[in-house]
Amino acid sequence: MNAPKSPKTFHVKSYGCQMNVYDGERMAELLGAQGMTASDAATADLVVLNTCHIRERATEKVYSEIGRLKHREEAPAPMIAVAGCVAQAEGEEIARRTKIDVVVGPQAYHNLPELVSQAASGTLALDTDMPAIAKFGALPKRRKVSPSAFLTVQEGCDKFCTYCVVPYTRGAEISRPFATIVDEAKALVDAGAKEITLLGQNVNAWDDENGTGLHGLIVALDKIDGLKRIRYTTSHPNDMREGLIRAHAEVESLMPYLHLPVQAGSDRILKAMNRSHTRDSYLRILERVRAVRPDIALSGDFIVGFPGETDAEFEDTLSLIDEVRYAASFSFKYSPRPGTPAAEMTDGFVPAAVMDERLKRLQAAIARDQAAFNAATLGKTCEVLLERPGKLPGQLIGKSPWLQSVHLMTDAKIGDLVEVEIVRADPNSLAGVETAKAAA
Ligand code: 5AD
Ligand code: SF4
Repeated sequence: MNAPKSPKTFHVKSYGCQMNVYDGERMAELLGAQGMTASDAATADLVVLNTCHIRERATEKVYSEIGRLKHREEAPAPMIAVAGCVAQAEGEEIARRTKIDVVVGPQAYHNLPELVSQAASGTLALDTDMPAIAKFGALPKRRKVSPSAFLTVQEGCDKFCTYCVVPYTRGAEISRPFATIVDEAKALVDAGAKEITLLGQNVNAWDDENGTGLHGLIVALDKIDGLKRIRYTTSHPNDMREGLIRAHAEVESLMPYLHLPVQAGSDRILKAMNRSHTRDSYLRILERVRAVRPDIALSGDFIVGFPGETDAEFEDTLSLIDEVRYAASFSFKYSPRPGTPAAEMTDGFVPAAVMDERLKRLQAAIARDQAAFNAATLGKTCEVLLERPGKLPGQLIGKSPWLQSVHLMTDAKIGDLVEVEIVRADPNSLAGVETAKAAA
């Protein structure tokens, strides 16, 4: 079936990381600025698949999604755009194997409207260029956002961990200029954001020509009237500088939460991963952070079953978890990514059943610590930023400073910051009772 010529409605479907969520929002804004209206995947004239390539079967997922769209029931097949990291890595190959209309990489999506009009003539429109940060200047102003908004400040990665595709799909580390970030943050606050999460593959490597560093940027954003909370993610241990650690003590709007991936607890595995930190240097960073901000919630990323990981080396990861007591974490089975050095490491391949078993044990340890962290907030009073409706009438769900979901019955509205006493702690969420309306 032929795709509609000039699409009037669109749907953006984002997979994977928060940076993709941000990119998806910006693509939707771009298409909206062209006069197109947002719709759903079942009926939209144009569907953008904003893909993630970080772990396996990403490409198969894209093919099955494309197949579903081509045979959808409620409307004829849409125009299909493949965006994101799969488009960057394998877009041309996908277009050779199946009919799609647009391929656009993560550094080129500011050209999406133009690519869509090109594709309307029936030929493939492809842009996988990686210009240095050009896209941000070409995006429309932020207009409508939720109380908690994302803002990408840094992109790309020069770290080349041996398992990871990001340096190949997102390109080299680049920081957006200070002034454009402050402008976008102000626009987000004007549009209703109370909290901004600064995003980057290595967000704590953000810097400018004056050596401002992420901590300097945070201090500047803290001065924006109406911006109540600042967060940042994802950080690399090697870029965790003193200024940023101190900011956790000194900047009130900087929330007590640090996501600092470690991946493994064994020095031999860390070396094979090219992580350029050791177990000890990582633990020392966390000690320094906890010294200035004792209540900080820590989270990490873990990979089990990296090539050659022995039982004893896996135990090192578990003992690191025992030592840190994370408040939350993300864990993955190692997945060989084409083109990465680790994909060539065929010695000591870890069998699937062993990987499953290791992941299960690791996740049980993480769940134990998350439940303990949540239980420790029982009876405490804290501010909650209300973000969305709950299941019950009159119930809203928000986030604590430590990024826990808090459910409460309230007359307040979405976007309000309310003071809440935590009255129930479950493994994955908390329940609270409003004590007083916190500072508006
Ligand atoms: N296999 C498994 N997990 C991976 N990650 C990145 N690449 C891979 C891979 N090839 C995980 C890391 C990273 C997170 C975003 O995804 O833990 O921190
Ligand atoms: Fe990938 Fe490592 Fe860069 Fe993170 S630091 S994006 S895991 S290469």
